[in-house]
Formats: sequence, structure tokens, C-alpha cells
Amino acid sequence: MMNLIQKLIGWVDERFPVIETWKSQMTEYYAPKNFNFWYFFGGLALLVLVIQILSGIFLTMNYKPDALFAFASVEYIMRDVQWGWLLRYIHSTGASMFFIVIYLHMFRGLMYGSYRKPRELLWIIGMIIYLALMGEAFMGYLLPWGQMSFWGAQVIVNLFASVPFVGHDLAILIRGDFVVSDTTLNRFFALHVIAIPLLLVAIIGAHLVALRQVGSNNPDGIEIKKNKDANGVPLDGVPFFPYMVIKDIVAVIAFLMVFVAIIFFAPDMGGYFLEYNNFVPANPMKTPEHIAPVWYFTPYYAILRAVPPLFGSQFPGVVAMGVATMIFFALPWLDRGKVKSIRYRGPIYKAFLAAFVVSFVGLGWLGLMPATETYTLISRILAVVYFAFFLLMPWYTKIDKCKPEPDRVTFK
Ligand code: HEM
Repeated sequence: MMNLIQKLIGWVDERFPVIETWKSQMTEYYAPKNFNFWYFFGGLALLVLVIQILSGIFLTMNYKPDALFAFASVEYIMRDVQWGWLLRYIHSTGASMFFIVIYLHMFRGLMYGSYRKPRELLWIIGMIIYLALMGEAFMGYLLPWGQMSFWGAQVIVNLFASVPFVGHDLAILIRGDFVVSDTTLNRFFALHVIAIPLLLVAIIGAHLVALRQVGSNNPDGIEIKKNKDANGVPLDGVPFFPYMVIKDIVAVIAFLMVFVAIIFFAPDMGGYFLEYNNFVPANPMKTPEHIAPVWYFTPYYAILRAVPPLFGSQFPGVVAMGVATMIFFALPWLDRGKVKSIRYRGPIYKAFLAAFVVSFVGLGWLGLMPATETYTLISRILAVVYFAFFLLMPWYTKIDKCKPEPDRVTFK
């Protein structure tokens, strides 16, 4: 039997580089041995991607992208389709889990300076994934055709209408109509189920190619490629297979435990993962009292609302929101620190990073709240802190007192 399998692998290998690829990408690819908790999230993001694509395919088999039937088809999936409720909850929980995983993955980048040379392009590709993911989530949210789907889309698309000169036409181009309608639902469906997923798979592929080219950073922020043995193997590296794969499996099991616990016990997560108003069919004649996007968009939504309108136009807020997302692209060039990892940074960087986290989480919470005077004032203060983290970075990373980096990674 073994002989037969070996022969088969040999036959394929002569025609397709199976063993060569396995070696170069797995057994002879060396990852830093000091990877910690924060290095689990890239692999977990891949897992959630697969979960979303698979559950999405099965949902599509019973969903109807039609303004007259969409809401009812989701109810049909929940009540009549065998295991339909499970598929839907997997997909809706998966959307929020995707963002939790991605935000932790990005935060790791901030802590260990993973966006710094030579990983600038890896970071930029990551940012393109993040934007595509936001588009994917936004369009997917329209599909159940509930009150929040409809009004959320209405509010966000109307923001584009505030762009001077081209705004009106731009909003019509996105909607395909003068208001959010059946046409909008159809095009968002096409983009959500095929166009953006294809794009996502392609750019995630590019992300991994770029990662393999430069190799992973690590919690010490020092390059393991600097110290190699006589055979060119990094002294502080371990083969990706089996060591890192086994370590990742532990994270996958822990993650899936949390994931299924949410699906079975709190699929709407108190209204954060699935908003209560979205269990009411879309009604273009009745605006809900309080419209808020899903939690993963709320930090940017709070920034949008924090900026006062100019001559009745929301455009300044839209610009602030756009800059707040895009500014991450500039990180590799804003950071002038002598070291990459937070372990060897001085107190100023640590204080700014902590303030940034407080501002991001605080804005996220404020984005869910009604825009009262007090909340708007707090949003403004936090928005200033948010932007200060980026805009002052060239200055504070330069003057910060860093500790000396060790020559080799620290590993206990
Ligand atoms: C679906 C989305 C994504 C997937 C599947 C993904 C996948 C991965 C994987 C498997 C790794 C290696 C394991 C690890 O370091 O955790 C990685 C590393 C990395 N990713 Fe992502 N990623 C995604 C999104 C992003 C985003 C949004 C960013 C940033 C904007 C980003 C930036 C990085 C960086 C800088 C590294 C190298 C980190 C280091 O070595 O310290 N990724 N990614």
C-alpha cells in the first residue's frame, strides 16, 4: 500500500512540484521559535475565511436576492431548511469573529512593529484586505433586508452623496437607483457572493506570498535571518511543519470552542452581532429611531459624527472617516523608532499606543450610542487622540528612549 502511495506521489511530482513546494513552504520554511499568543490570529483569519465561504455557499442555495422575498427567505432558512439556522448563525457570527480576529491581528502589528521594513508591502496588502473585508461585510448586511439592513445602507450610501460635484452621481452608481431598492439588493448580492470574495482570496494569496518572501517578524522584533548556521538555517527558527502547525491547531480548537459557544448560546450577542431591529422587515416608509452600524464599523462612524457639518454638508465628517481608515497605510513611514517591538520601546510609545487603544474602543462604544451633546464631546476628544497617535508618531518615536535589542530572540 505504502509503495503504491509513494509511486503515485512520485508520478504526480514529476509533473507538478508537490514535494518541492511542501519542503520550501512547510518543512524547510523556518518560523521564529518565540512566536506567542499574538501570532495565532493570521492562521485563525484563514480559518474564518474558509468558514465564511463554505457557510455562504449553502446559504446562497436558499436565499433569494429580491426585495419582495429576501427577508422571508432568511426566515425560511431559519425555520424550515434543515440545519438552516445553524448555517445562518455560523455565517453571522463568523462576520463578527472575522473582525475580532483581524483587529487583534492588526494590533499585533502595532505592538511588534510588523509593518516596518522589510514588511511594508505585506502591511499594505493587509490593509487592502481590511478595506475589502469592510466592503464585503457592508454589502452582506443588506441581504437579510431588515430595517437595519435597509436604513444602514441608506445612511452610508448617502454619505457618498456629500462628495462635492460627483457625489450625487456616485451615490446613484452605488445604489443603481435614487434610493436603496431591489436593484441595490441585486448588485450588493453579486458583489457579496462572488466579486469581493474572489478579490479577497486573491489578495490573501498575495499576503501569504509576501509573508513567505520576507519571513515573519516576532515578539522581539529582530530578524531571525541575521543569525544562520553553516547550512543557512536560521538559528532561532523552527520548521513551520510540524512545530507551528501543531501550535496553531491548539489555537484553532480554543477558537472553535468560543465560536460554537456564541452560536449555540448567544448568536445575536445581545444585539451586537445581530441587531434587534433587523428582525423587522425593511420598511422604506419608516425610519428607525436609532440607526447604528454593526460594532466593527462604529469607531469610524463615531469619528464621522464627531466632525460638525460645514454649510449643512457632512463632507468634512466623511473625509475624517476616510482618513481615519486610510492612515494605517502610512504607518511604515510614520514610525521612526530605533526598535520595532514594544518590548524595547520607551514609555512614550507605550503611552501613545495605550491611548490609541482607549480611543478606538471608546469611539467604538460611542458609535453605538445616540449622538447626544456629551457623547459628541467625548467622541471629539477621542477622535483627536486617535489622529494624534498617527500624526505625532514621527516625532514621539524619534525622541522615545528605547532599550537595547538583544542579538538573539528571547525564548524560555
Ligand atoms: C483575511 C485576512 C487576513 C489573513 C487570512 C491573514 C493571514 C496572515 C497570516 C497567516 C500571517 C502569518 C501568521 C501571523 O503572523 O499571524 C499573517 C501575517 C501578517 N499579516 Fe495578515 N492576514 C489578514 C489580514 C491582515 C491585515 C488586515 C493586516 C494589516 C493591515 C495584516 C498584516 C499582517 C502582517 C504585518 C503580518 C506579519 C506579522 C509579523 O510577522 O509580525 N494582515 N497574516
